[in-house]
Amino acid sequence: MNGSTGTAEKPITATAAAVCCPEEVSEEELFARLEEIIGEYRGKPGALIPVLQIAQTIFGYLPEQALKRIALGLGKSYSEVAGVVSFYSFFSTKPRGKHLIRVCLGTACYVRGGKQVLDALKKVLGIDVGDTTGDALFTLEVARCFGACGLAPAMCIDAEVFKRVRPTKIREILTRYRP
Ligand code: FES
Repeated sequence: MNGSTGTAEKPITATAAAVCCPEEVSEEELFARLEEIIGEYRGKPGALIPVLQIAQTIFGYLPEQALKRIALGLGKSYSEVAGVVSFYSFFSTKPRGKHLIRVCLGTACYVRGGKQVLDALKKVLGIDVGDTTGDALFTLEVARCFGACGLAPAMCIDAEVFKRVRPTKIREILTRYRP
């Protein structure tokens, strides 16, 4: 698996995908929306990634059942669809929390303490990378570079970037996002 589909498919920007909470609508309605999207894209080249991105926005993540319907609807194998999903880090097959925390582990951030920031977050949140807290408030992920290398280590919560983060400040930072 490497996400290569043999086409020129490229990810479009993944703005806000899966960051917001899904609306309070029935599962049936969500799948009806998905079918509509599949219908719009069916037969178009490079349809898979935009459909996956829209599906993730609809559900808040990509449930297995949605992937199966996308595969069927676009005439692709399930393994191809699942392969693309696992290749791109912005796709998630697990429900995400209200706030997405991403810690940069790019070179500049790593050598300036990014790993310690990540360890502090894991400890404070009580979760590992890729997991979501039990109260569904935070999901923890890692990233490669936010373009803030000069002010490393960096992390971001949703769209906000935190620079020169100190592990001792993690609790204080998270407090701002707690209800
Ligand atoms: S390496 Fe972390 S922001 Fe660039």
